[in-house]
Amino acid sequence: VRTALIVPAAGSGVRLGAGRQKALVEIDGRALVRLALEPFVAVAHIVEAIVVAPRGAMAEIQNALKGMTWPGCELRVVAGGETRQDSVRSGLGTIESEVSLVCVHDAARPLVTQATIMRVLAAAAEHGAATAASRPSDSLRVVREDGTTQPVDRDKAWLVETPQAFGYDLFKRAHQHATAVRFAGTDDASLVEACGGATIAVVESDALNLKITRPEDLEVVSVLLRTRSTRTL
Ligand code: C5P
Repeated sequence: VRTALIVPAAGSGVRLGAGRQKALVEIDGRALVRLALEPFVAVAHIVEAIVVAPRGAMAEIQNALKGMTWPGCELRVVAGGETRQDSVRSGLGTIESEVSLVCVHDAARPLVTQATIMRVLAAAAEHGAATAASRPSDSLRVVREDGTTQPVDRDKAWLVETPQAFGYDLFKRAHQHATAVRFAGTDDASLVEACGGATIAVVESDALNLKITRPEDLEVVSVLLRTRSTRTL
């Protein structure tokens, strides 16, 4: 199934406090945006990859991707927007190829595996919409505005991650609908759901697929990436 990949990488990284945009923070000399993109290179279905860069750091992002070879795929850097949703919409608007699926993956998740990617794409091809997710290991509790709290059934709860993938027409419709009704979602699956487009298939990530948000996330991910690379040597 011909697929376009959008990698939102236009976040400022304020919470990471690295003094530069998050996607440009390096682990062992490779920028996060590159690390998050590399697991996709071996995925045959991807014919176009669009990296959405911070408006003021297009050249730096381009530079971070220099030398990456991706046979059969056109890799492009475009400018992002104010919010993640704006950035994904910008990327979506630049898709040039005929594709059936669109996959979205955050530059902040460099631990994604090829197995997870393949399973999300297959689930999206079958159901129209899919997301990677993992099960919480902590107990969960909702805190209401009045200060009272309530436990959440952990067996039914999932932590939603990327990659997410959707039918191309459905995904375009979802972003148009969100813009029209001013719906703001923290992920793309919620936009698809909000336009009544599809039920979201949930695919369990096969390995820890952490998102780098705070400095301690960067430390954990660095260790895990190093462990994985020595294992495969
Ligand atoms: O801020 P957060 O970690 O939730 O962002 C998730 C992803 O969305 C990151 O890869 C970030 O670079 C991207 N993003 C974006 N444009 C924004 C804000 C975030 O592409 N305006």
